[in-house]
Amino acid sequence: MTSLMGKTALVTGASRGIGRAIAQRLAADGALVAVHYGGNEQAARESVELIQKDGGRAFAVRAELGVSGDVETLFAALEAGLRAWSGQVRLDILVNNAGINTGETIETITPEAFDRLVAVNAKAPLFIIQRALPLLNDGGRIINLSTGATRIAMPEGPYAMSKAAVEVLGRSLAQVVGARGITVNTVSPGPTVTDMNPWMIDNPQVQEMVGSGNAIPRVGQPSDIADVVAFLASEAGRWVTGQVIDASGGCFLGPRI
Ligand SMILES: NC(=O)c1ccc[n+]([C@@H]2O[C@H](COP(=O)([O-])OP(=O)(O)OC[C@H]3O[C@@H](n4cnc5c(N)ncnc54)[C@H](OP(=O)(O)O)[C@@H]3O)[C@@H](O)[C@H]2O)c1
Repeated sequence: MTSLMGKTALVTGASRGIGRAIAQRLAADGALVAVHYGGNEQAARESVELIQKDGGRAFAVRAELGVSGDVETLFAALEAGLRAWSGQVRLDILVNNAGINTGETIETITPEAFDRLVAVNAKAPLFIIQRALPLLNDGGRIINLSTGATRIAMPEGPYAMSKAAVEVLGRSLAQVVGARGITVNTVSPGPTVTDMNPWMIDNPQVQEMVGSGNAIPRVGQPSDIADVVAFLASEAGRWVTGQVIDASGGCFLGPRI
C-alpha cells in the first residue's frame, strides 16, 4: 500500500513493541517515519533497519521523555531529521505511543512514582502535541495510545489514571483542531505481547489464560494495534475524530452467559 506516500510521521516509543509495529506499518504505507526512542539505541536502530529492509524510509530520534527539556530535545532531533530526509520541517501524523506501566497499585505507589507516570504518559504527549501543532499540516492526524485499563477496575489504578488523561486530552483537542481537518483519536489496546508484559512473552499458557478474557480469545499482538492506528492515519479515517477506539479483541466486555 502507498496511501501515505509523501506524508511524514513521528511515532514516539517506536524502538520496541507496539510503537515499532506502528512505525513499520506507517512506513509500509509510504510515510517517512521518525522512530523515536528513549534510551535503547540498538532497538531503535533495528526498527529503522526493519523498515528500510522492507523498502520504507525512517530515521531515529532520541529523547528521554518525562524529564526537563524533553520536548525541546525531541523536536531538535526531529526537525533536523525531517530537514535532512524530506527537505522541509512538516509533519502529517503524530503518534504519541511511548509510555510506561510501573505496575504499582493504589496502595503501594509513592508520590514520586506517580509524578513519573504522569510525566511520561500524560504531560509529555500534551506538550509534544503543543509543540507539533505549528508543524502539522492541515488534514493531519494525532493518535494517542491509552489502555483498556481506563474502562475497568485494574490493580494498576495509577497507570490507568495517567492514561485516562490522554483520552480527555484527545476529545478536547479534536474540537480545537477540527477546523483544520486534523483528526485526533485515542487507541486503547488490551493486553498485548510486548516488553511491557514480560510475563507473557514466550509463555503460551499465560497468554491463553489472559486471552480468555477477550471476546476474541487470544492476546493482542503489536500488529493488531498498528493496523487500527494505520486506519486512523489514512484518508479512510478522515471522518473519525475525538474518539477512544478500543483495540483489545473485546477485553472484558461482560459476563459470558
Ligand atoms: N503492551 C500492552 O499490553 C499495552 C496495553 C495497553 C496500552 N499499552 C500502551 O501502548 C504503548 C506502547 O506500549 P508497549 O507495550 O509497546 O511498550 P514497550 O514495549 O515497553 O515499549 C515502550 C516504548 O516507549 C519508549 N519509552 C518508554 N519510556 C520512555 C521515556 N521515558 N522516554 C522516551 N521513550 C520512552 C521505549 O523506548 P526505549 O526502547 O528507548 O526504552 C519504547 O520504545 C504505551 O503507551 C502503553 O501504555 C500497552
